[in-house]
Amino acid sequence: MTHLSLLKPTGHLTLGNYLGALRPMTAAQGDDAYYGVADLHALTVPHDPAQLRALVREMATLLLAVGLDSSTLFVQSHVPAHSELAYLLECTAHTGELNRMIQFKEKGRDVPTTRASLYTYPVLMAADILLYRAERVPVGDDQRQHVELTRDLALRFNHAYGPVFTVPEIVTPATGARVMDLQDPATKMGKSHRSGAGAVYLLDPPDVVRRKLARAVTDSDTGPAAVRHDRDTKPGVTNLVEILEACGGSTDGITSYGALKRTVADAVVAELEPVQKRYAELAADPVPVAAVFAAGADRCRSVTAEVLTAARTAIGLV
Ligand code: TYM
Repeated sequence: MTHLSLLKPTGHLTLGNYLGALRPMTAAQGDDAYYGVADLHALTVPHDPAQLRALVREMATLLLAVGLDSSTLFVQSHVPAHSELAYLLECTAHTGELNRMIQFKEKGRDVPTTRASLYTYPVLMAADILLYRAERVPVGDDQRQHVELTRDLALRFNHAYGPVFTVPEIVTPATGARVMDLQDPATKMGKSHRSGAGAVYLLDPPDVVRRKLARAVTDSDTGPAAVRHDRDTKPGVTNLVEILEACGGSTDGITSYGALKRTVADAVVAELEPVQKRYAELAADPVPVAAVFAAGADRCRSVTAEVLTAARTAIGLV
């Protein structure tokens, strides 16, 4: 079963990225798993070149630190076929469907200085997936619409030009598919949030993780059953309960928010500790990490050549 998933280096990775994507990715590893850093996607919003380079290195090191070492790891821009296929898929996608993409609507549809690449962003993502004939795409819930578009483009292309692409399926984890901001539980925990207080970053030291969780927004319910799931009326508490469950803990016997927050903090710190330890070791010498990604890009360039040629030929290029 071929798996593919990328992460966009637009900020430091969060607990949301970890529970929604990275951990499920580590559960599906091997020769047929392609995971990496979507650096081209990071160029769709205002960026600083030096900061981008630093974030790509940090993310590459973190992909190894979370244990993805038996998959093929690569940086998207090191495999030029991604951009080439994206163009062929732009010639398959319709403006109507791109106009409907939630991310584009939220992040810039009505802003004149929005980069054109933000508009075509989901098409590049479709190219990432289809280029590997990926059958499964392990991602968080927020990527559902993009994977749906990918499926539509694969079907449309295959129907018009012949069976070139595999139609992928989304895989989301049972818990942790949508981790919410600790300060504003109506929005998802994101890398590039204004204040860092609502997001736990994978490299936050334990005391910072504990402080952020201690200050997480809950509600004023003090009843005996205050600690429970209820997305509508208790979004903050529900988020903490889900984080706890995703980290293997349970709310059994917990009756106060103080105790809940401490239990969640312990579980998150325990989950992140081995990742941070491994990160520190790997970050001490960037050469081996770069070598893993260079070998990964080599492999990607060779495995994608056939699909790109098939797509070029099918669409009518000579
Ligand atoms: P990105 O970089 O925003 O997020 C990376 C992965 O983390 C998941 N995620 C979350 N999961 C649960 N709770 C959250 N709060 C949370 N925030 C993020 C995302 O769903 C994602 O799986 N467009 C993609 C990157 C991409 C990609 C691809 C993904 C580019 N090409 C091909 C899969 C396949 C993105 O921006 O993810």
